[in-house]
Amino acid sequence: MPPILERPRSDSAPVLLRFCSGVLRGAPGRSPPRTFSARLSRQTFRVRGRPARLRSMTSSHPPLSADEATRGPSSQLWDAHTAVRYDDTLGWMGTPEAVEPAVDLLEQLADGGTALEFAVGSGRIAVPLAARGVPVHGIELSEPMVEQLRAKADAERIPVTVGDMATAHVPGRFSLVYLVYNTISNLLTQQEQVACFRNAARHLMPGGRFVVELGVPPLRRLPPGQLTCPFDVSEEHLGFDVIDPVTQRLTSYHHWPRRGEQGRSEQRYAWPAELDLMAQMAGMELERRTADWHGAEFTADSEQHISVWRLPLGAAESPDPAAQTTRAP
Ligand SMILES: C[S@@+](CC[C@H](N)C(=O)[O-])C[C@H]1O[C@@H](n2cnc3c(N)ncnc32)[C@H](O)[C@@H]1O
Repeated sequence: MPPILERPRSDSAPVLLRFCSGVLRGAPGRSPPRTFSARLSRQTFRVRGRPARLRSMTSSHPPLSADEATRGPSSQLWDAHTAVRYDDTLGWMGTPEAVEPAVDLLEQLADGGTALEFAVGSGRIAVPLAARGVPVHGIELSEPMVEQLRAKADAERIPVTVGDMATAHVPGRFSLVYLVYNTISNLLTQQEQVACFRNAARHLMPGGRFVVELGVPPLRRLPPGQLTCPFDVSEEHLGFDVIDPVTQRLTSYHHWPRRGEQGRSEQRYAWPAELDLMAQMAGMELERRTADWHGAEFTADSEQHISVWRLPLGAAESPDPAAQTTRAP
């Protein structure tokens, strides 16, 4: 079902959504989110048109099926309204306390090589990583988000391929591919998430690493028999998540009674173990999983994880796929 989101009547900022816990009162705060959180807009998301068909290729990673190559992504499209507000509403996720540990680890994992960020957005991570001297390329679905990045770094400094991170190809091989801020859950089907792992592996040189930052699905917070979970009940805003354990779809509903606004956003949640299997299908092995960018131990109570999978050093390098969409706005 296509995403449905009613356009707010006022020109207000997007909010930080939290799955099933935490308090959300208007714009996000400047304290670390404790739970699976993702920035989504209560804008009208448009479903993106079909991307161009990819050239077929032979590789150790299977080429995209005709279906994969022609189907557009399920992700909701971040439009201009959302993009221009993105940086101003990052809250804690935009602070040095959140960004620097991530950049520290990514720089270390790039190991002197080049990096590719899936869903690079406005460059929250790519810009400081490039400033450390790591060559960074991005893939991004939303051209308005790339325009925000262009205000900070030109196409020579951080080239961006406009396309779907599950299918788009960038020339070259990277020592690091990374996908942060829960964004793999923007791909709403398991098939696309699997394709995203395969696409990461296709872009890695042997020994290269794929890093994902993602929340742990908040199912333990649900009382038995209940699939709806409020995450904010205030005079300003009513927010609740509806979880479908069959499809692993999490839908967040919002209502702002005073403004007469409402909205809805969708994600597909996945357990760490499911991601490990996706990595395995793509020929990668789990190297480490921590609860945060500082390296805290991942435990049963962890609400997010930073996972690092590695393409074995002996893995056959797949031929460099021809660039699918190499526009560089
Ligand atoms: C939460 S933002 C993260 C941006 C950036 N990585 C950061 O950490 O600030 C999610 C981004 O994912 C992009 N996105 C969503 N689905 C995508 C897809 N299928 N392929 C590429 N980008 C996608 C959105 O346009 C948006 O810029």
